[in-house]
Amino acid sequence: MYSNSMFYRDIDSHFSIDIGDKPYKILQLTDLHFGFGILSKKQDELGMDAVTKLIDRTTPDLIILTGDSIFPFIFKSGTRNNIKQAKKLVKFMDDFQIPYAFLFGNHDIEMGSKGNKNEICDIITNGKYSIFDKGVKELTGEGNYIIKLVNKDNLIMALVILDSNMYRDGWFYSGFDCIHSEQTDWCMSELSKLKKQNNDLKALAFFHMPLPEFKQAYEKMKLGDKSVEYNFGNIGEGNDYFGISKYNPDFFEKALENDVIKGMFCGHDHLNTLSLTYKGIMMTYGMSIDFLGYKGIRKKYTQRGGTLITINQDSSFQVSPVPLTTVVSKLVRGIK
Ligand SMILES: [Fe+2]
Ligand SMILES: [Fe+2]
Repeated sequence: MYSNSMFYRDIDSHFSIDIGDKPYKILQLTDLHFGFGILSKKQDELGMDAVTKLIDRTTPDLIILTGDSIFPFIFKSGTRNNIKQAKKLVKFMDDFQIPYAFLFGNHDIEMGSKGNKNEICDIITNGKYSIFDKGVKELTGEGNYIIKLVNKDNLIMALVILDSNMYRDGWFYSGFDCIHSEQTDWCMSELSKLKKQNNDLKALAFFHMPLPEFKQAYEKMKLGDKSVEYNFGNIGEGNDYFGISKYNPDFFEKALENDVIKGMFCGHDHLNTLSLTYKGIMMTYGMSIDFLGYKGIRKKYTQRGGTLITINQDSSFQVSPVPLTTVVSKLVRGIK
């Protein structure tokens, strides 16, 4: 676990970081899909180079990995050993000496992988720069927690980190799962409590899978609905695909009622880079890293990069995509 005089755990599932007087920079990185196996050596090298270049360029205060960081899919990576993968990920991230938060995607522990979520949690928690908490035991998923950004006694922003789970009933063909209602309720209740400390509190939520409302907003925008604000990016997946759950999560609806969360950041659909604002909530697909997961992805590059979120003292925030093409030109095309 990260250790620093400006960082502490105050209550269960809550961390605080004193960010001082300066704007605070978060780099969202998603879908690294590191294989660390015999079949993925080249792709891992490209992925690690890309991550390194993005971190060097953006010099973030905090990195948030929004799922599918490791990929224990034997036909692509040559290993099912996600324990070894998680250890290598932690070593790689620790070397930057920048704190990083982690959440689960649908691939980190699937496909008959060696380690279960609990074991991976322990490895991540042991990272020297990692900020991670398994969260409340009774909740679905592992790694539901809150990072509060403070300046002395002032609460500036809450970062909500959630596990959007994998497949309903643990079975790939049952379709993508989602944030469960009791996770939503926990999150909104924590935010309501925090609001007592700062009535104008804002929060940003980070999870792996996009919400159905993201797709709805996109479809409305395409029909010319001016209530949806386009920020940047596009839908690069074929047939306007959004990897959403069919189980109708209530997270967006409850976030609207609760009125604290103003930004939501996901990954999962590697070719989607869209950012929209719908009903006052900005929804953003982080630019992805993947050189291994999708067929032919190594040579596709316009989706590749990171997402920089700058948080100001007045709780306002700006989000900008950092395409890898703006950082380095050769690596993104899969040429080394
Ligand atoms: Fe992924
Ligand atoms: Fe995914």
